[in-house]
Amino acid sequence: MPPAAFLFLACVLAAASLAATDGDGDAMRELRRALAPPDWGAAGEDDKGNHCAWRGVTCGGGGAVVAIDLPRRGLRGDFSAVAGLRALARLDLSFNALRGGVPGEALGGLTRLEFLDLSMNHLSGDVPPSLAGAVGLRVLNLSNNALSGNIPDELRALRGLTELQISGNNLTGTIPPWLAALPGLRVLSAYENSLSGPIPSGLGLSSKLQVLNLHSNALEGSIPSSLFDLGNLQVLILTVNRLNGTIPESIGRCSGLSNVRIGNNRLAGAIPASIGDVTSLTYFEADSNELTGEIPAQFARCANLTLLNLAYNRLAGEVPDVLGELRNLQELIVSSNGLSGEFPRSILRCRNLSKLDLSYNAFRGGLPESICNGSRLQFLLLNHNEFSGGIPVGIGGCGRLLELQLGNNNLTGEIPPEIGRVKSLQIALNLSFNHLVGPLPRELGRLDKLVALDLSSNEISGEIPGDMRGMLSLIEVNLSNNRLSGAIPVFAPFQKSAASSFSGNTKLCGDPLVVDCGPIYGSNYGMDHRKISYRVALAVVGSCVLIFSVVSLVVALFMWRERQEKEAEAKMAEAGEVVVAAPQVMASNMFIDSLQQAIDFQSCVKATFKDANVLSNGTFSITYKAVMPSGMVVCVKKLKSVDRAVIHHQTKMIRELECLSHINHPNLVRPIGYVIYEDIALLLHLHMPNGTLLQLLHNVDNPDGDNQKPDWPRLLSIAIDVAEGLAFLHHVATIHLDISSGNVFLDSHYNALLGEVEISKLLDPSKGTASISAVAGSFGYIPPEYAYTMQVTVPGNVYSFGVVLLEILTSKLPVDEEFGEGMDLVKWVHSAPARGETPEQIMDPKLSTVSFAWRKQMLAVLKVAMLCTERTPAKRPKMKKVVEMLQETKNS
Ligand SMILES: *[C@@H]1O[C@H](CO)[C@@H](O)[C@H](O)[C@H]1NC(C)=O
Ligand SMILES: *[C@@H]1O[C@H](CO)[C@@H](O)[C@H](O)[C@H]1NC(C)=O
Ligand SMILES: *[C@@H]1O[C@H](CO)[C@@H](O)[C@H](O)[C@H]1NC(C)=O
Ligand SMILES: *[C@@H]1O[C@H](CO)[C@@H](O)[C@H](O)[C@H]1NC(C)=O
Ligand SMILES: *[C@@H]1O[C@H](CO)[C@@H](O)[C@H](O)[C@H]1NC(C)=O
Ligand SMILES: *[C@@H]1O[C@H](CO)[C@@H](O)[C@H](O)[C@H]1NC(C)=O
Ligand SMILES: *[C@@H]1O[C@H](CO)[C@@H](O)[C@H](O)[C@H]1NC(C)=O
Ligand SMILES: *[C@@H]1O[C@H](CO)[C@@H](O)[C@H](O)[C@H]1NC(C)=O
Ligand SMILES: *[C@@H]1O[C@H](CO)[C@@H](O)[C@H](O)[C@H]1NC(C)=O
Repeated sequence: MPPAAFLFLACVLAAASLAATDGDGDAMRELRRALAPPDWGAAGEDDKGNHCAWRGVTCGGGGAVVAIDLPRRGLRGDFSAVAGLRALARLDLSFNALRGGVPGEALGGLTRLEFLDLSMNHLSGDVPPSLAGAVGLRVLNLSNNALSGNIPDELRALRGLTELQISGNNLTGTIPPWLAALPGLRVLSAYENSLSGPIPSGLGLSSKLQVLNLHSNALEGSIPSSLFDLGNLQVLILTVNRLNGTIPESIGRCSGLSNVRIGNNRLAGAIPASIGDVTSLTYFEADSNELTGEIPAQFARCANLTLLNLAYNRLAGEVPDVLGELRNLQELIVSSNGLSGEFPRSILRCRNLSKLDLSYNAFRGGLPESICNGSRLQFLLLNHNEFSGGIPVGIGGCGRLLELQLGNNNLTGEIPPEIGRVKSLQIALNLSFNHLVGPLPRELGRLDKLVALDLSSNEISGEIPGDMRGMLSLIEVNLSNNRLSGAIPVFAPFQKSAASSFSGNTKLCGDPLVVDCGPIYGSNYGMDHRKISYRVALAVVGSCVLIFSVVSLVVALFMWRERQEKEAEAKMAEAGEVVVAAPQVMASNMFIDSLQQAIDFQSCVKATFKDANVLSNGTFSITYKAVMPSGMVVCVKKLKSVDRAVIHHQTKMIRELECLSHINHPNLVRPIGYVIYEDIALLLHLHMPNGTLLQLLHNVDNPDGDNQKPDWPRLLSIAIDVAEGLAFLHHVATIHLDISSGNVFLDSHYNALLGEVEISKLLDPSKGTASISAVAGSFGYIPPEYAYTMQVTVPGNVYSFGVVLLEILTSKLPVDEEFGEGMDLVKWVHSAPARGETPEQIMDPKLSTVSFAWRKQMLAVLKVAMLCTERTPAKRPKMKKVVEMLQETKNS
């Protein structure tokens, strides 16, 4: 060949190969223009052939794109340019901000497409039939969008589907029967839609169906027996539907079934004994149905059973003794049935039991003395039964108890002083409506975490001991209808109570009762009126003088002691001694490399030894301010004792924390490190100089902040920040456990960050669901339904957020005596129209009267707050929607 010809050929070949490498270049550059992913270079750049190097892009031969993985990039815009990528097998655009319809035509042309994940976006409109063109699809995930309409029949062409996820949309119509004929279907998840009609019979017969999750729809008919016939099912979640019929006997064929949640339906008949063959069963939740018969003893064969919830059914008979063999059982909930017999003592052999709820049944006989012998019980709910005899002295051994409900039984005898040893009691101690006699034990005063104490309607006598002033957390108290006498001790929670908390004790006097005690407590009621008032005045003046002297003395003593301490400290410091002996740090880490040098873990530990460093005191933790030797200030959060359990799973906890430290949302506080010593875990956070929203709203001075008065635009943007943080959490399926204004932190620019996020992760035992009961949240923010479900939910979070909005609008606290008896902020606001009050009388006039524009925005936000605090959880909007409504208000 002559050299010229050779050269020409070489050139042609080179050009051809270049064209081939560019492969899908045009389509990719168009996609870049439309989506603008952050790390794909600038649009219009001449970068032929480079698209294979763009982040998240995988190419096959000749520059053909086979996979695009771009989750969590904040993408919006149209991605129909993917139509040009003929070789595309995998497309993951989950967790973005895509809007508009699903581009069915574009996707339907991709015959090689096997994996399509568009979940966690804002896509709307119908599921397009044209999607059926992508006949190679194996995994289709459209969940958590705003899709509506039916599941189109055309999709029956997708014969290769193994996983179909369409939950969290607004789909209607029925679950199409052709799904039952798909040969490879393993996962079908369509929960939280508005689907109706039956679950197709035959579902599971032609495939290895492992996961079926259809909760929160309007499904009717029965649970098809076919689901269990092949024995492959592992997870079955059908809660909150309208299913009737019985639980199929064939359920026993699924020896690998771990999760059965079929509560809140209309299921009837008996629980089949074959349940004992489901040996891998971990959760069985069938509450709020119409189940009859007895609790099958066969449950005892399910050795891994952790939660058994059969509440609100029509079960009868006794709790089988053999259930005591369930070593892993943590929650046994059989409330509101027709169960009878003696207290099921054998259950106490389940050493891991943390919740025992036998309430609203017909159990009788005495309570066992060893009721809490070294147990982990946190919730002991035995109210509304016919238990008799005394309260066992052994109750003092319940070292972890958070709530004790013994009301409405037939208990007699005295309240054992040992009750004072149960220092963990927090949510409630309720012994009301029994026949208890004798005095109130002084030891009650040791219960300094207890929020609600109800001893009403007994025959308790004697005086109310002054020691009860030790109940520092008390908010609700009821001692009514007893035989108490003497003066009600002066103690804020008592005097703040309604009179009905103390009424029905004929010999009791003092505030809040209208009965005056007179000069000598408890007698001399028949004296001349003028004389009494004269004596009362004298007594008042006298006690004022006395109180003043005592207070002065105490203050003086205190100041003297503090000075002494300071001097001693200074001396020791001079002498070069360590002021506080620091304990051995067992594990510590800093997640942010650039801060490694600035943080001294010993200083973090030491900061928690001084009360003066306390920044805030929440439900689950105390936060301290710690100044590092480097001068840097960090927040150190110490988990409270109830939550120490997490520390026993240290590796898991550390993994969760590391994971959380990567959450990159501007409105969520994330951990920057941790220190573990003894059995105490300290979580480190960046210091928030402007304190909390609680402090801002209620004018608590903040030594570090600039203490500006809140104005409306700032408050509105704080509200939006919190809403966005919370919406993000819900988006990633995390439920917050303690939303309150005290958990909203403000940085130096008054951007708001929601805190205590890690608690939600660390305390979630059941993973993936929110049925955790060790949690009450902050008083005043707890939605009404938690009282009976003890179930932390997404709508529950929305309620608590609504309370924060009301706080912002009214500048009032969520609970305050000014609202009157039995009222909190929410009830006060909701009942304003009935009282004939206008919104102006509710909103803080210092804000609403400043300008017409502010007032208008405040009214709009008030509407949102009212929606969020609806009594019916289902009526509350999703956080996503709340963000939109608040944004709209801001832009108006
Ligand atoms: C969508 O569903 C698929 C299939 O079940 C799953 O692999 C994927 O992780 C899901 N995507 C998200 C964001 O959860
Ligand atoms: C769901 O669709 C129904 C009608 O199909 C509509 O009334 C309802 O507002 C929609 N809900 C949401 C949350 O979009
Ligand atoms: C179950 O519900 C369906 C539809 O609502 C009804 O037709 C059927 O009679 C019910 N079956 C039973 C056993 O109640
Ligand atoms: C019980 O759980 C353990 C740990 O998860 C597992 O290894 C075991 O196989 C389970 N037992 C049964 C019968 O499934
Ligand atoms: C409690 O459960 C754990 C597993 O969660 C198990 O290792 C332990 O043995 C159980 N405790 C008892 C006393 O059975
Ligand atoms: C209490 O528990 C201990 C062991 O933890 C046991 O030896 C003792 O017999 C138990 N007492 C009762 C009354 O059950
Ligand atoms: C205590 O129990 C009684 C009846 O069991 C109930 O009416 C009352 O509301 C309860 N009190 C508190 C504070 O929970
Ligand atoms: C309650 O106990 C008394 C005796 O202490 C007994 O006479 C009465 O029948 C019991 N009531 C119930 C409902 O068990
Ligand atoms: C206290 O209990 C009685 C019933 O014994 C009830 O009537 C009253 O309303 C309760 N008071 C408060 C403030 O809860």
